[in-house]
Amino acid sequence: MKVMVVGGGGREHAIIKKIKKSPKVSQIFALPGNGGIASDAVCVDIGAKDLEAIVKFAKEKAVDFAIVAPDDPLVLGLVDLLKAENIPCFGPEKKAAIIEGSKAFSKDLMKKYGIPTAAYETFTDMESALTYLDTCKIPVVVKADGLALGKGVIIAETLDDAKKAVRDMMEDKVFGESGSKVVIEEFLTGPEVSVLSFTDGKTLIPMVSSMDHKRALDGDKGLNTGGMGTIAPNPYYTAEIADRCMKEIFLPTMEAMNKEGRTFAGCLYFGLMLTEDGPKVIEYNCRFGDPETQVVLPLLDSDLFDIMEHVADGTLDQAEVNFADDAACCVVMASEGYPVKYEKGFEITISDDVEDVYVAGAKLSEDGKLLTNGGRVLGVTERGEDIAEAIRKAYASVEKVHFDNAFYRHDIGQRALAALDEK
Ligand code: AMP
Ligand code: GLY
Repeated sequence: MKVMVVGGGGREHAIIKKIKKSPKVSQIFALPGNGGIASDAVCVDIGAKDLEAIVKFAKEKAVDFAIVAPDDPLVLGLVDLLKAENIPCFGPEKKAAIIEGSKAFSKDLMKKYGIPTAAYETFTDMESALTYLDTCKIPVVVKADGLALGKGVIIAETLDDAKKAVRDMMEDKVFGESGSKVVIEEFLTGPEVSVLSFTDGKTLIPMVSSMDHKRALDGDKGLNTGGMGTIAPNPYYTAEIADRCMKEIFLPTMEAMNKEGRTFAGCLYFGLMLTEDGPKVIEYNCRFGDPETQVVLPLLDSDLFDIMEHVADGTLDQAEVNFADDAACCVVMASEGYPVKYEKGFEITISDDVEDVYVAGAKLSEDGKLLTNGGRVLGVTERGEDIAEAIRKAYASVEKVHFDNAFYRHDIGQRALAALDEK
């Protein structure tokens, strides 16, 4: 089958490397892909938000199946357009992708169906938001309603900072229209866990749990980033907590979306916080997480493409979904200065014995060299018998990847190891 994957980051590279192993897949197009993905798929220079051009391409090439990975095209309704052309897709329709596209929607959904989450209020009027803040416990969390490249969440440590965040979003529109509505919510504490799941709206199968490391520098210091590394499984996520999440969060969310007439089919991502009062939802994503995918999919023993077809057909109950019980660690190598300002264009060399490299920000030069072309350049994943071994092996492999101005965190997985020690 001819498969089209929309997107061009490390997550998409991990999806592509996995579906390439399926006997059913004969050709893969990546739109737009990147210089690293070019080793595993035919990259086509069409941006992930250029919906019209994507649909046209899919028709011209008679693509048999489409996988839409990033949030933007999902929220904009690419899956609806492809399905209208009878192209089977993995990914939710627009009316279901709103679970990530609007924080006000997802918060209201959780309130209506009793799914545990932080207490909150939603505002479209700035003065009311500012007045409400005077009644809030500090720290408090201010969130832009819409997609904001992962930057629309401000944890305000003082009342002044909270008010500034509201003014920035609602008056100065620093996140554009995403900030015309804001959610103000209670600050929660506890370990964070990411759980991705496959669902067709009838069956929901959680994947192995993982832990992201969002801050740029060691010791969780520095600015928030798209993610500097991941480990799986997440040791805080015990079998008992998993059971509770399934009953209190995962299945109720799937059913709530059905009741709203917004059946979700695709990868539903639960960003959870394990608070003293039990697990609560911090956020939903309507897609695979990045860089969670880069540790979760390497642990999947089953045929990813086959699972995706079952999700698209509504027969997920018949799919075989098995995860290995060992561990994985992904260390992201970025350009010095990320997430603010960085140089690009340095040659990347990767030793032949490093297999699981997921390229995000790189392009090919005219003479075929791989050059850095973004903030997060690539992720190096290794599996191990346990987390400690996976971490050791991942850092050993990082030593075999070179480019000028490379920087990465040295403590990916250390918090997870400490949690295991406490047990
Ligand atoms: P989000 O973009 O919603 O995932 O938020 C980004 C990060 O902000 C999360 O991964 C959490 O670390 C933090 N965060 C979001 N909401 C809360 C909250 N209510 N309490 C504490 N931290 C939060
Ligand atoms: N790693 C978090 C996300 O993909 O949103």
